[in-house]
Amino acid sequence: KKTIRDFDFNDKTALVRVDFNVPLKDGVVTGDDRIVKAIPTIDYLVENGAKVVLVSHLGRPKGEYKEEFSLAPVAKRAAELLKKDVKFIPSKEVVDVKVIEEVKNLKSGEIALLENLRFVKGEEKNDPDFAKKLASLGDIFVNDAFGTAHRAHASNVGVTEFLPSCAGLLVEKEIKYFEDALKNPEKPFAAILGGSKVSDKIGVIENLLEKVDVLVIVGAMANTFLKSKGLEVGKSLVEDDKLDLAREIMAKATENHVEIILPKDVIVAPELSDNAKGTLKKVEDVGQDDMILDIGKESLKDIEGSLSKAKTVVLNGPCGVFEIEEFSHGTIELVKILAKLDATVIVGGGDSVAAVEKAGVADKLTHISTGGGASLEMLEGKKLPGIEAVEEA
Ligand code: 3PG
Repeated sequence: KKTIRDFDFNDKTALVRVDFNVPLKDGVVTGDDRIVKAIPTIDYLVENGAKVVLVSHLGRPKGEYKEEFSLAPVAKRAAELLKKDVKFIPSKEVVDVKVIEEVKNLKSGEIALLENLRFVKGEEKNDPDFAKKLASLGDIFVNDAFGTAHRAHASNVGVTEFLPSCAGLLVEKEIKYFEDALKNPEKPFAAILGGSKVSDKIGVIENLLEKVDVLVIVGAMANTFLKSKGLEVGKSLVEDDKLDLAREIMAKATENHVEIILPKDVIVAPELSDNAKGTLKKVEDVGQDDMILDIGKESLKDIEGSLSKAKTVVLNGPCGVFEIEEFSHGTIELVKILAKLDATVIVGGGDSVAAVEKAGVADKLTHISTGGGASLEMLEGKKLPGIEAVEEA
């Protein structure tokens, strides 16, 4: 397995896949965590004399050019964060003769960013012709796009067929934290899973039931568990076809001596809207017209108690409808609890990471993953194609 340290980058062109799929509003980057976390690799390459060609996707433009998906604002933000010039080399085809020429003219230590890879259909199809075109730009391929590692696309898998390849420093670090937590966790090991659907997390639950001591289930997926225990969930989001599955999971947990923690109290509203007002209720008191939208104080206390001795904790997914302020408190209070623990704490998933930032506790947690889907697949115990490709190259 080669690392970035095994290559001589001096005067070489490093083609670097990053995940600069960041939130934008009115052409301005509103969350730059993924850019910040790519800096160590970019700095390393610059310091070692490489010409750095960054490639990324942004959003889902579905294989055609759309101005609002341009990486131009990201190039600007990256330059500010790196405190270095980042030459944006735009082309609707990502790679064309002009781009090739401009990349050739880069000098050692210079950084360029190309246009959104997903403007080209071949990217998501892992088309070998597009992969070859990309590869023709560089001498060495570095994959530092952990957030995209669960995709098998031309820019992270296909390209490794054509260039000597390695993982970047961010990918290395992400894998280390997830692997350490999953293979050899310091016990007690607790997982907190939230989000809307049991069906999205079933692979994670199955894998973690073999490893954890405590499994906390929050978010709308908890509704399915509450209903499977005979509780009223009113108008809440629930997966009726997963009630048996929820019972099986709870039975399996008992068999494996895994303590399952479900919400004890919840915030309900008559409907989900931006100005809905929440009411605190015990789960036993939820009525037919209630919609469960967050967890309550007693639940948080209960979770805090069950985590007090934990030495390893993973969190993925929100406790409620995080994007609406009124129902974001459970998630924010939960990450504050995690920040106080004397434990290795790993957080993944967009809403959970946003909650960490909102609560201002990022520096008190061990690892905040840049992966949403990718971190879930790590927790499922899956091999990620983007990582396998560089390992096998
Ligand atoms: C993410 O944000 O999870 C990654 O950048 C992957 O994006 P995708 O889900 O559009 O493939």
